[in-house]
Amino acid sequence: MRFSNKVVMITGAAQGIGAEIAGRFAAEGASTYVCDLKETEGKALVEKIKAGGGQGFYLRLDVTDETNWREAMGLIKAQSGRLDVLVNNAGVSVRMPFEEYPVDVLDHMINVNIKGVFLGMKHAVILMKEQKAGCILNMSSIAGLIGHKYSSIAYIATKGAVTMMTKGVATQYAPYNIRANSIHPSTVETPLAAELFSDPEKKRQRLEEVPLGRFATTKDVAAVALFLASDEAAFITGVSVPVDGGLTAS
Ligand SMILES: NC(=O)c1ccc[n+]([C@@H]2O[C@H](COP(=O)([O-])OP(=O)(O)OC[C@H]3O[C@@H](n4cnc5c(N)ncnc54)[C@H](O)[C@@H]3O)[C@@H](O)[C@H]2O)c1
Repeated sequence: MRFSNKVVMITGAAQGIGAEIAGRFAAEGASTYVCDLKETEGKALVEKIKAGGGQGFYLRLDVTDETNWREAMGLIKAQSGRLDVLVNNAGVSVRMPFEEYPVDVLDHMINVNIKGVFLGMKHAVILMKEQKAGCILNMSSIAGLIGHKYSSIAYIATKGAVTMMTKGVATQYAPYNIRANSIHPSTVETPLAAELFSDPEKKRQRLEEVPLGRFATTKDVAAVALFLASDEAAFITGVSVPVDGGLTAS
């Protein structure tokens, strides 16, 4: 098992992409911290992990709250002694026309998608520096690489920030053997994309833009996350990896 004796923390892990990533890390032997606001779903996932013979713990964590991050890191250090991998996966997407975009919705997007990742990395590197090792994965999007025509400008802004924060941390924390990479999926069928999938025209548009001709799956994304966190990726840092069936290449 690739992650025996490793400690992994995943935000936004109660459902969707985060839940798949958490399940895969646990299945590969990691002590897996399932962090989310959604307690019922998060705890249910931990029960599933345990039923499968894995090690899982639920932590209620609001990624926008620095006190929550301090407490979570303190608990992980006390309980597991270290943190090997942090996956900053929690994210929100509110699609509205640019010219009508409300400032409070923009603030919410900035808080979860930018501040949440910033705080996660800040508190992870404090622990990882002591260990002289660590790996950070940030969930961006194709909208963090291109001016994607179907994404909101707010989403593009926040996911672009994730891309560049990742590169900054990769460069500045490489001397401590801390790696940081970002992952950039195209459309994945999760609750976040539910509104889009309920509209046949929007669904068709999104499918048509993918050269490989299908939507990404949570499994596609989780496979890349596990590779980037593994020893096989020991020399990979500061990169932005699309999981997009060729979308950003076209
Ligand atoms: N679904 C897609 O098409 C797609 C494509 C590209 C990138 N992404 C990105 O992947 C990540 C996961 O997306 P998903 O589709 O699984 O979304 P999702 O909505 O299914 O799950 C997101 C999870 O994040 C949690 N969350 C939201 N705000 C939080 C907060 N403040 N603190 C802690 N947890 C919080 C939610 O409770 C939820 O469980 C996001 O960053 C998203 O932007 C998704």
